[in-house]
Amino acid sequence: MYIALKTEAFAKLFFLVSCAGLVMYGILAFYTFHTAYTTVVDLEKYNQNFPLFEGYKGDRFYTDLKYILVWTTPEYFQNPLGEGQAPFVKYDCPFYNCYLSTKKDLLNGDYKNFDAVFMDIGFLRKWKKMALPRVRSPAQKYIFHSMRSSDETPICTINSDNYFNWTWTYKLSSDIVTPFIEVRDLEGNRISPRLTVRWKSNMTKLSQKDKERMNTKKKAVAWVMNSCRTRTNRMVFVKSLRNALREHSLELDIYGCKMLPCPNDDCRKLLERDYYYSLVYESSHAEDYVTDEVLKAYHHDVVPIVKGGANYQRFLPEGSYLNAENTTVQKLAAHIDYSIRNLDVYYDYHRWRNHYTIKKFDYWQGLCQLCELLHSRASLETFSSYEKFRSWWYTDTLKDRCYPKGAENMVDVLSYMDSKNKVNKTVVTN
Ligand SMILES: *[C@@H]1O[C@H](CO)[C@@H](O)[C@H](O)[C@H]1NC(C)=O
Ligand SMILES: *[C@@H]1O[C@H](CO)[C@@H](O)[C@H](O)[C@H]1NC(C)=O
Ligand SMILES: *[C@@H]1O[C@H](CO)[C@@H](O)[C@H](O)[C@H]1NC(C)=O
Ligand SMILES: *[C@@H]1O[C@H](CO)[C@@H](O)[C@H](O)[C@H]1NC(C)=O
Repeated sequence: MYIALKTEAFAKLFFLVSCAGLVMYGILAFYTFHTAYTTVVDLEKYNQNFPLFEGYKGDRFYTDLKYILVWTTPEYFQNPLGEGQAPFVKYDCPFYNCYLSTKKDLLNGDYKNFDAVFMDIGFLRKWKKMALPRVRSPAQKYIFHSMRSSDETPICTINSDNYFNWTWTYKLSSDIVTPFIEVRDLEGNRISPRLTVRWKSNMTKLSQKDKERMNTKKKAVAWVMNSCRTRTNRMVFVKSLRNALREHSLELDIYGCKMLPCPNDDCRKLLERDYYYSLVYESSHAEDYVTDEVLKAYHHDVVPIVKGGANYQRFLPEGSYLNAENTTVQKLAAHIDYSIRNLDVYYDYHRWRNHYTIKKFDYWQGLCQLCELLHSRASLETFSSYEKFRSWWYTDTLKDRCYPKGAENMVDVLSYMDSKNKVNKTVVTN
Protein backbone atom coordinates (compact mmCIF):
# COMPACT_ATOMS: atom_id res chain seq x y z
CA MET A 1 0.00 0.00 0.00
CA TYR A 2 2.69 2.42 1.06
CA ILE A 3 4.73 1.43 -1.96
CA ALA A 4 1.76 1.97 -4.31
CA LEU A 5 1.25 5.44 -2.89
CA LYS A 6 4.84 6.26 -3.32
CA THR A 7 4.80 5.13 -6.94
CA GLU A 8 1.80 7.30 -7.61
CA ALA A 9 3.50 10.32 -6.11
CA PHE A 10 6.52 9.54 -8.16
CA ALA A 11 4.44 9.29 -11.33
CA LYS A 12 2.95 12.72 -10.63
CA LEU A 13 6.35 14.19 -10.08
CA PHE A 14 7.61 12.57 -13.23
CA PHE A 15 4.70 14.03 -15.17
CA LEU A 16 5.40 17.50 -13.83
CA VAL A 17 9.08 17.30 -14.62
CA SER A 18 8.30 16.13 -18.14
CA CYS A 19 5.92 19.04 -18.67
CA ALA A 20 8.51 21.50 -17.46
CA GLY A 21 11.04 19.84 -19.75
CA LEU A 22 8.71 20.19 -22.71
CA VAL A 23 8.19 23.87 -22.08
CA MET A 24 11.92 24.43 -21.76
CA TYR A 25 12.46 22.48 -24.93
CA GLY A 26 9.93 24.68 -26.71
CA ILE A 27 11.62 27.85 -25.57
CA LEU A 28 15.01 26.51 -26.57
CA ALA A 29 13.77 25.36 -29.95
CA PHE A 30 12.22 28.74 -30.63
CA TYR A 31 15.35 30.50 -29.57
CA THR A 32 17.64 28.39 -31.74
CA PHE A 33 15.31 28.70 -34.69
CA HIS A 34 15.20 32.42 -34.17
CA THR A 35 18.95 32.84 -33.97
CA ALA A 36 19.50 30.43 -36.83
CA TYR A 37 17.06 32.37 -38.90
CA THR A 38 18.65 35.71 -38.20
CA THR A 39 21.98 34.34 -39.39
CA VAL A 40 20.45 32.95 -42.50
CA VAL A 41 19.25 36.44 -43.18
CA ASP A 42 22.68 37.75 -42.33
CA LEU A 43 24.29 35.40 -44.82
CA GLU A 44 21.56 35.95 -47.35
CA LYS A 45 22.72 39.49 -47.35
CA TYR A 46 25.72 37.94 -49.02
CA ASN A 47 23.38 35.99 -51.32
CA GLN A 48 24.99 32.57 -51.10
CA ASN A 49 24.00 29.07 -50.18
CA PHE A 50 25.88 27.62 -47.30
CA PRO A 51 25.57 24.49 -45.22
CA LEU A 52 23.75 25.14 -41.97
CA PHE A 53 24.87 23.07 -39.09
CA GLU A 54 22.41 20.84 -37.30
CA GLY A 55 22.34 20.65 -33.55
CA TYR A 56 22.57 24.24 -32.41
CA LYS A 57 24.00 25.07 -29.06
CA GLY A 58 22.57 28.42 -28.16
CA ASP A 59 24.40 31.61 -28.82
CA ARG A 60 27.84 30.10 -28.83
CA PHE A 61 26.74 29.71 -32.38
CA TYR A 62 25.32 32.52 -34.25
CA THR A 63 26.21 35.88 -32.87
CA ASP A 64 28.69 37.99 -34.71
CA LEU A 65 30.16 35.44 -37.10
CA LYS A 66 33.74 35.93 -38.20
CA TYR A 67 34.54 34.68 -41.65
CA ILE A 68 37.75 32.91 -42.55
CA LEU A 69 38.65 32.28 -46.14
CA VAL A 70 40.79 29.21 -46.69
CA TRP A 71 42.74 30.29 -49.73
CA THR A 72 43.05 27.55 -52.32
CA THR A 73 43.39 27.27 -56.04
CA PRO A 74 42.10 24.54 -58.33
CA GLU A 75 45.69 23.23 -58.65
CA TYR A 76 46.17 23.18 -54.94
CA PHE A 77 42.87 22.31 -53.44
CA GLN A 78 43.45 21.48 -49.86
CA ASN A 79 41.37 22.56 -46.95
CA PRO A 80 42.74 20.96 -43.82
CA LEU A 81 40.20 22.73 -41.64
CA GLY A 82 36.77 21.88 -43.02
CA GLU A 83 33.85 23.96 -44.18
CA GLY A 84 31.41 26.20 -42.33
CA GLN A 85 30.93 26.19 -38.59
CA ALA A 86 31.00 22.44 -38.29
CA PRO A 87 34.74 22.20 -37.47
CA PHE A 88 34.35 24.51 -34.47
CA VAL A 89 31.50 22.38 -33.16
CA LYS A 90 33.25 19.14 -33.94
CA TYR A 91 36.30 20.12 -31.90
CA ASP A 92 34.15 21.56 -29.15
CA CYS A 93 35.66 25.02 -29.26
CA PRO A 94 34.67 27.58 -26.63
CA PHE A 95 33.39 29.71 -29.51
CA TYR A 96 31.48 28.42 -32.50
CA ASN A 97 30.84 31.73 -34.12
CA CYS A 98 33.40 31.53 -36.87
CA TYR A 99 32.77 30.45 -40.40
CA LEU A 100 35.33 28.76 -42.64
CA SER A 101 35.05 28.60 -46.37
CA THR A 102 37.03 28.03 -49.52
CA LYS A 103 34.48 29.94 -51.56
CA LYS A 104 36.03 33.27 -52.43
CA ASP A 105 32.72 34.75 -53.54
CA LEU A 106 30.76 33.71 -50.46
CA LEU A 107 30.43 37.22 -49.09
CA ASN A 108 28.91 39.44 -51.74
CA GLY A 109 31.32 38.08 -54.31
CA ASP A 110 34.22 39.93 -52.71
CA TYR A 111 36.87 38.15 -50.69
CA LYS A 112 37.82 41.43 -49.06
CA ASN A 113 34.75 40.90 -46.89
CA PHE A 114 36.36 38.00 -45.03
CA ASP A 115 37.84 38.83 -41.65
CA ALA A 116 40.81 36.55 -42.22
CA VAL A 117 42.53 34.72 -45.05
CA PHE A 118 44.20 31.45 -44.18
CA MET A 119 47.10 30.20 -46.32
CA ASP A 120 48.84 26.90 -45.97
CA ILE A 121 52.53 26.32 -46.66
CA GLY A 122 51.81 23.58 -49.19
CA PHE A 123 50.27 26.17 -51.40
CA LEU A 124 52.62 29.04 -50.55
CA ARG A 125 55.85 27.25 -51.19
CA LYS A 126 55.53 27.83 -54.86
CA TRP A 127 54.78 31.48 -54.39
CA LYS A 128 52.93 32.39 -57.55
CA LYS A 129 51.71 35.92 -57.71
CA MET A 130 48.86 34.97 -59.99
CA ALA A 131 47.46 32.53 -57.51
CA LEU A 132 47.43 34.97 -54.61
CA PRO A 133 44.77 37.55 -53.76
CA ARG A 134 45.13 40.52 -56.05
CA VAL A 135 43.73 43.08 -53.67
CA ARG A 136 43.59 43.05 -49.92
CA SER A 137 41.74 45.00 -47.35
CA PRO A 138 43.93 46.50 -44.64
CA ALA A 139 41.41 45.29 -42.10
CA GLN A 140 41.93 41.62 -42.97
CA LYS A 141 44.32 39.32 -41.17
CA TYR A 142 46.38 37.14 -43.47
CA ILE A 143 47.38 33.98 -41.67
CA PHE A 144 50.38 31.84 -42.50
CA HIS A 145 49.95 28.18 -41.53
CA SER A 146 52.44 25.35 -41.48
CA MET A 147 53.04 22.17 -39.56
CA ARG A 148 55.86 21.26 -41.92
CA SER A 149 59.32 22.13 -40.74
CA SER A 150 60.78 25.42 -41.89
CA ASP A 151 63.96 23.69 -42.89
CA GLU A 152 62.06 21.50 -45.27
CA THR A 153 59.95 24.36 -46.56
CA PRO A 154 61.71 27.72 -46.51
CA ILE A 155 60.03 30.57 -48.34
CA CYS A 156 62.37 32.52 -50.55
CA THR A 157 60.52 35.31 -52.22
CA ILE A 158 60.81 38.82 -50.86
CA ASN A 159 57.08 39.23 -51.50
CA SER A 160 56.40 37.20 -48.38
CA ASP A 161 57.99 39.86 -46.19
CA ASN A 162 55.41 42.21 -44.80
CA TYR A 163 52.62 40.04 -46.10
CA PHE A 164 51.28 38.05 -43.18
CA ASN A 165 49.60 39.47 -40.12
CA TRP A 166 49.38 36.31 -38.07
CA THR A 167 51.11 32.93 -38.06
CA TRP A 168 49.88 29.51 -37.03
CA THR A 169 52.70 26.99 -36.79
CA TYR A 170 54.56 24.71 -34.39
CA LYS A 171 57.03 27.52 -33.69
CA LEU A 172 56.65 29.00 -30.24
CA SER A 173 56.89 32.56 -31.54
CA SER A 174 53.75 32.13 -33.67
CA ASP A 175 50.48 33.85 -32.84
CA ILE A 176 48.75 30.50 -32.76
CA VAL A 177 51.09 27.80 -31.54
CA THR A 178 50.28 24.17 -32.21
CA PRO A 179 53.26 22.10 -31.13
CA PHE A 180 53.33 18.36 -31.66
CA ILE A 181 53.60 17.48 -27.99
CA GLU A 182 52.84 19.00 -24.62
CA VAL A 183 53.87 18.35 -21.04
CA ARG A 184 51.49 18.75 -18.14
CA ASP A 185 51.96 18.37 -14.42
CA LEU A 186 49.87 15.87 -12.52
CA GLU A 187 47.27 18.53 -11.74
CA GLY A 188 46.80 18.95 -15.48
CA ASN A 189 48.46 22.35 -15.82
CA ARG A 190 50.25 22.88 -19.08
CA ILE A 191 53.98 23.19 -18.40
CA SER A 192 55.59 23.09 -21.81
CA PRO A 193 56.32 23.91 -24.55
CA ARG A 194 57.16 27.43 -23.49
CA LEU A 195 60.03 29.78 -24.16
CA THR A 196 61.23 29.36 -20.61
CA VAL A 197 60.19 26.52 -18.38
CA ARG A 198 61.17 25.95 -14.78
CA TRP A 199 61.37 22.20 -14.52
CA LYS A 200 61.19 20.62 -11.09
CA SER A 201 64.73 20.36 -9.85
CA ASN A 202 64.41 17.53 -7.41
CA MET A 203 62.14 14.87 -8.70
CA THR A 204 61.18 11.79 -6.73
CA LYS A 205 63.17 8.64 -7.35
CA LEU A 206 61.58 5.83 -9.29
CA SER A 207 59.69 3.26 -7.23
CA GLN A 208 60.91 -0.31 -6.93
CA LYS A 209 57.91 -1.47 -8.90
CA ASP A 210 58.73 0.84 -11.79
CA LYS A 211 62.32 -0.32 -11.76
CA GLU A 212 61.25 -3.94 -11.88
CA ARG A 213 59.05 -3.19 -14.85
CA MET A 214 62.17 -2.17 -16.72
CA ASN A 215 64.36 -5.10 -15.81
CA THR A 216 63.84 -6.95 -19.07
CA LYS A 217 66.01 -4.45 -20.91
CA LYS A 218 69.33 -5.69 -22.17
CA LYS A 219 70.28 -3.67 -25.24
CA ALA A 220 71.67 -0.17 -25.40
CA VAL A 221 70.21 1.86 -28.25
CA ALA A 222 67.66 1.42 -31.00
CA TRP A 223 66.92 3.77 -33.83
CA VAL A 224 63.60 3.34 -35.56
CA MET A 225 63.70 5.32 -38.77
CA ASN A 226 60.48 7.21 -39.35
CA SER A 227 61.28 8.51 -42.79
CA CYS A 228 63.79 6.99 -45.15
CA ARG A 229 64.87 10.06 -47.06
CA THR A 230 65.59 13.34 -45.34
CA ARG A 231 67.55 16.49 -45.98
CA THR A 232 69.92 15.80 -43.12
CA ASN A 233 72.12 12.82 -43.72
CA ARG A 234 71.36 11.07 -40.51
CA MET A 235 73.22 7.89 -41.30
CA VAL A 236 76.63 9.56 -40.94
CA PHE A 237 75.94 10.45 -37.34
CA VAL A 238 74.26 7.16 -36.53
CA LYS A 239 77.17 5.14 -37.86
CA SER A 240 79.69 7.12 -35.86
CA LEU A 241 77.60 6.70 -32.72
CA ARG A 242 77.38 3.01 -33.45
CA ASN A 243 81.15 2.78 -33.73
CA ALA A 244 81.61 4.69 -30.50
CA LEU A 245 79.20 2.34 -28.72
CA ARG A 246 81.07 -0.68 -30.03
CA GLU A 247 84.13 0.53 -28.16
CA HIS A 248 82.06 -0.19 -25.07
CA SER A 249 80.74 -3.49 -26.46
CA LEU A 250 77.29 -1.92 -26.86
CA GLU A 251 75.03 -2.09 -29.86
CA LEU A 252 72.97 0.40 -31.81
CA ASP A 253 70.28 -1.40 -33.79
CA ILE A 254 68.59 0.28 -36.72
CA TYR A 255 65.00 -0.59 -37.59
CA GLY A 256 62.92 0.30 -40.60
CA CYS A 257 63.85 1.49 -44.09
CA LYS A 258 65.36 -1.82 -45.25
CA MET A 259 67.35 -2.24 -42.04
CA LEU A 260 66.04 -4.56 -39.30
CA PRO A 261 62.30 -5.20 -39.64
CA CYS A 262 59.91 -4.25 -36.86
CA PRO A 263 57.72 -7.16 -35.71
CA ASN A 264 54.28 -6.54 -37.27
CA ASP A 265 55.59 -3.18 -38.46
CA ASP A 266 55.55 -1.88 -34.92
CA CYS A 267 58.70 -1.58 -32.89
CA ARG A 268 57.23 -0.07 -29.77
CA LYS A 269 56.80 -3.26 -27.78
CA LEU A 270 60.26 -4.35 -28.75
CA LEU A 271 61.74 -1.05 -27.62
CA GLU A 272 59.92 -1.27 -24.34
CA ARG A 273 61.14 -4.76 -23.60
CA ASP A 274 64.71 -4.67 -24.85
CA TYR A 275 66.16 -1.19 -25.08
CA TYR A 276 67.41 1.36 -22.60
CA TYR A 277 67.65 4.19 -25.09
CA SER A 278 66.26 5.08 -28.44
CA LEU A 279 67.54 7.69 -30.82
CA VAL A 280 64.94 10.28 -31.77
CA TYR A 281 66.53 11.97 -34.72
CA GLU A 282 64.14 14.56 -36.13
CA SER A 283 63.78 14.32 -39.88
CA SER A 284 64.38 18.04 -40.00
CA HIS A 285 66.74 20.33 -38.15
CA ALA A 286 64.72 23.44 -37.32
CA GLU A 287 63.91 25.73 -34.42
CA ASP A 288 61.12 24.34 -32.18
CA TYR A 289 60.67 21.35 -34.43
CA VAL A 290 60.09 18.58 -31.90
CA THR A 291 57.67 16.04 -33.30
CA ASP A 292 55.70 13.36 -31.52
CA GLU A 293 58.39 10.81 -32.46
CA VAL A 294 59.72 11.37 -28.97
CA LEU A 295 56.54 9.84 -27.53
CA LYS A 296 57.48 6.46 -28.92
CA ALA A 297 60.28 6.48 -26.40
CA TYR A 298 58.57 8.19 -23.46
CA HIS A 299 55.42 6.12 -23.69
CA HIS A 300 57.37 2.87 -23.72
CA ASP A 301 59.76 3.20 -20.83
CA VAL A 302 62.62 4.19 -23.09
CA VAL A 303 64.90 7.20 -22.66
CA PRO A 304 65.14 9.27 -25.82
CA ILE A 305 68.45 10.47 -27.21
CA VAL A 306 67.22 13.55 -29.00
CA LYS A 307 68.83 15.11 -32.03
CA GLY A 308 67.21 18.05 -33.70
CA GLY A 309 67.29 21.80 -34.07
CA ALA A 310 65.16 22.70 -31.08
CA ASN A 311 66.09 23.99 -27.69
CA TYR A 312 64.76 20.94 -25.88
CA GLN A 313 64.69 22.74 -22.56
CA ARG A 314 61.52 24.42 -23.85
CA PHE A 315 59.88 21.07 -24.54
CA LEU A 316 60.98 18.15 -22.40
CA PRO A 317 61.48 17.64 -18.66
CA GLU A 318 65.03 18.22 -17.58
CA GLY A 319 66.93 15.03 -17.04
CA SER A 320 64.49 12.91 -19.04
CA TYR A 321 66.56 12.63 -22.21
CA LEU A 322 70.08 12.79 -23.62
CA ASN A 323 70.80 15.50 -26.14
CA ALA A 324 73.09 14.40 -28.94
CA GLU A 325 73.43 17.88 -30.34
CA ASN A 326 76.36 19.58 -28.64
CA THR A 327 78.46 16.66 -27.61
CA THR A 328 80.73 14.10 -29.18
CA VAL A 329 79.59 10.59 -29.97
CA GLN A 330 82.42 9.35 -27.72
CA LYS A 331 81.07 11.24 -24.73
CA LEU A 332 77.56 10.13 -25.51
CA ALA A 333 78.59 6.48 -25.77
CA ALA A 334 80.61 6.67 -22.58
CA HIS A 335 77.63 8.09 -20.73
CA ILE A 336 75.25 5.48 -22.09
CA ASP A 337 77.66 2.78 -20.98
CA TYR A 338 78.06 4.33 -17.53
CA SER A 339 74.29 4.63 -16.97
CA ILE A 340 73.66 1.03 -17.98
CA ARG A 341 76.34 -0.20 -15.61
CA ASN A 342 75.00 2.04 -12.84
CA LEU A 343 71.31 1.53 -13.22
CA ASP A 344 70.39 4.11 -10.60
CA VAL A 345 71.76 6.73 -12.95
CA TYR A 346 69.63 5.27 -15.72
CA TYR A 347 66.48 5.10 -13.60
CA ASP A 348 66.83 8.78 -12.79
CA TYR A 349 66.04 9.55 -16.43
CA HIS A 350 62.59 8.17 -15.70
CA ARG A 351 61.90 10.30 -12.62
CA TRP A 352 59.75 12.71 -14.64
CA ARG A 353 57.11 9.98 -14.61
CA ASN A 354 56.37 10.86 -10.99
CA HIS A 355 55.62 14.49 -11.90
CA TYR A 356 54.57 14.99 -15.48
CA THR A 357 52.65 13.55 -18.39
CA ILE A 358 53.88 13.95 -21.95
CA LYS A 359 51.25 13.71 -24.65
CA LYS A 360 50.44 14.52 -28.21
CA PHE A 361 49.16 18.07 -28.52
CA ASP A 362 45.66 18.42 -29.87
CA TYR A 363 46.24 20.28 -33.13
CA TRP A 364 42.61 21.35 -33.34
CA GLN A 365 43.01 23.65 -30.38
CA GLY A 366 44.63 25.92 -32.96
CA LEU A 367 41.38 26.24 -34.80
CA CYS A 368 39.61 27.24 -31.60
CA GLN A 369 42.34 29.76 -30.83
CA LEU A 370 41.94 31.26 -34.27
CA CYS A 371 38.24 31.83 -33.64
CA GLU A 372 38.98 33.35 -30.26
CA LEU A 373 41.61 35.67 -31.70
CA LEU A 374 39.16 36.86 -34.32
CA HIS A 375 36.70 37.65 -31.59
CA SER A 376 39.17 39.62 -29.57
CA ARG A 377 38.71 43.15 -30.83
CA ALA A 378 42.07 44.17 -29.50
CA SER A 379 43.81 41.48 -31.56
CA LEU A 380 41.74 41.95 -34.65
CA GLU A 381 42.04 45.68 -34.79
CA THR A 382 45.68 45.94 -33.79
CA PHE A 383 47.93 46.28 -36.77
CA SER A 384 50.40 43.42 -36.97
CA SER A 385 52.75 42.34 -39.68
CA TYR A 386 55.70 40.02 -40.10
CA GLU A 387 58.14 42.45 -41.61
CA LYS A 388 60.91 39.95 -42.18
CA PHE A 389 58.75 36.96 -42.56
CA ARG A 390 61.27 34.83 -44.43
CA SER A 391 63.85 35.12 -41.69
CA TRP A 392 61.27 34.55 -39.02
CA TRP A 393 60.19 31.33 -40.66
CA TYR A 394 63.55 30.00 -41.80
CA THR A 395 66.18 31.07 -39.32
CA ASP A 396 69.32 29.95 -41.16
CA THR A 397 70.83 32.01 -43.96
CA LEU A 398 68.41 32.37 -46.81
CA LYS A 399 71.22 32.67 -49.29
CA ASP A 400 72.26 29.08 -48.69
CA ARG A 401 68.81 27.72 -49.39
CA CYS A 402 67.31 30.19 -51.80
CA TYR A 403 70.04 31.30 -54.13
CA PRO A 404 70.10 30.65 -57.02
CA LYS A 405 67.34 28.05 -57.15
CA GLY A 406 64.59 29.77 -55.23
CA ALA A 407 65.34 33.26 -56.49
CA GLU A 408 62.70 34.56 -58.83
CA ASN A 409 64.29 37.83 -59.79
CA MET A 410 67.06 40.27 -59.04
CA VAL A 411 65.17 41.79 -56.12
CA ASP A 412 65.11 38.40 -54.43
CA VAL A 413 68.79 37.80 -55.09
CA LEU A 414 69.76 41.17 -53.64
CA SER A 415 67.55 40.60 -50.66
CA TYR A 416 69.44 37.42 -49.73
CA MET A 417 72.72 39.32 -49.90
CA ASP A 418 71.25 41.95 -47.65
CA SER A 419 69.58 39.60 -45.31
CA LYS A 420 71.21 39.95 -41.92
CA ASN A 421 68.87 37.22 -40.94
CA LYS A 422 67.88 38.69 -37.69
CA VAL A 423 64.50 37.46 -36.70
CA ASN A 424 62.25 40.43 -37.01
CA LYS A 425 58.72 39.89 -35.96
CA THR A 426 57.49 43.35 -35.23
CA VAL A 427 54.04 43.79 -33.97
CA VAL A 428 53.46 47.49 -34.07
CA THR A 429 50.69 48.62 -31.83
CA ASN A 430 48.96 51.88 -32.49
C1 LIG B 1 63.44 18.48 -2.62
O1 LIG B 1 62.68 17.41 -2.06
C2 LIG B 1 62.72 17.35 -0.68
C3 LIG B 1 61.98 16.08 -0.24
O2 LIG B 1 60.81 15.90 -0.97
C4 LIG B 1 62.12 18.61 -0.06
O3 LIG B 1 62.17 18.56 1.34
C5 LIG B 1 62.90 19.81 -0.58
O4 LIG B 1 62.30 21.00 -0.14
C6 LIG B 1 62.95 19.82 -2.09
N1 LIG B 1 63.81 20.87 -2.54
C7 LIG B 1 63.47 21.69 -3.52
C8 LIG B 1 64.50 22.71 -3.90
O5 LIG B 1 62.40 21.64 -4.09
C1 LIG C 1 74.74 23.98 -29.31
O1 LIG C 1 75.79 24.85 -29.66
C2 LIG C 1 75.36 26.00 -30.38
C3 LIG C 1 76.59 26.78 -30.79
O2 LIG C 1 77.47 26.93 -29.73
C4 LIG C 1 74.39 26.80 -29.52
O3 LIG C 1 73.94 27.92 -30.23
C5 LIG C 1 73.22 25.92 -29.15
O4 LIG C 1 72.34 26.63 -28.28
C6 LIG C 1 73.68 24.64 -28.47
N1 LIG C 1 72.57 23.75 -28.27
C7 LIG C 1 72.36 23.11 -27.13
C8 LIG C 1 71.18 22.22 -27.13
O5 LIG C 1 73.06 23.23 -26.16
C1 LIG D 1 48.14 43.16 -42.36
O1 LIG D 1 49.38 43.24 -43.01
C2 LIG D 1 49.39 44.08 -44.13
C3 LIG D 1 50.75 43.99 -44.77
O2 LIG D 1 51.75 44.33 -43.86
C4 LIG D 1 49.04 45.49 -43.73
O3 LIG D 1 48.98 46.32 -44.86
C5 LIG D 1 47.70 45.48 -43.03
O4 LIG D 1 47.39 46.78 -42.56
C6 LIG D 1 47.70 44.51 -41.87
N1 LIG D 1 46.36 44.45 -41.31
C7 LIG D 1 46.11 44.27 -40.03
C8 LIG D 1 44.70 44.25 -39.64
O5 LIG D 1 46.99 44.11 -39.19
C1 LIG E 1 62.97 45.22 -36.94
O1 LIG E 1 61.91 46.07 -37.21
C2 LIG E 1 61.95 47.29 -36.53
C3 LIG E 1 60.67 48.05 -36.81
O2 LIG E 1 60.51 48.34 -38.16
C4 LIG E 1 63.18 48.06 -36.97
O3 LIG E 1 63.26 49.29 -36.28
C5 LIG E 1 64.41 47.25 -36.67
O4 LIG E 1 65.54 47.90 -37.15
C6 LIG E 1 64.29 45.87 -37.31
N1 LIG E 1 65.39 45.06 -36.87
C7 LIG E 1 66.17 44.39 -37.72
C8 LIG E 1 67.24 43.59 -37.12
O5 LIG E 1 66.01 44.43 -38.92
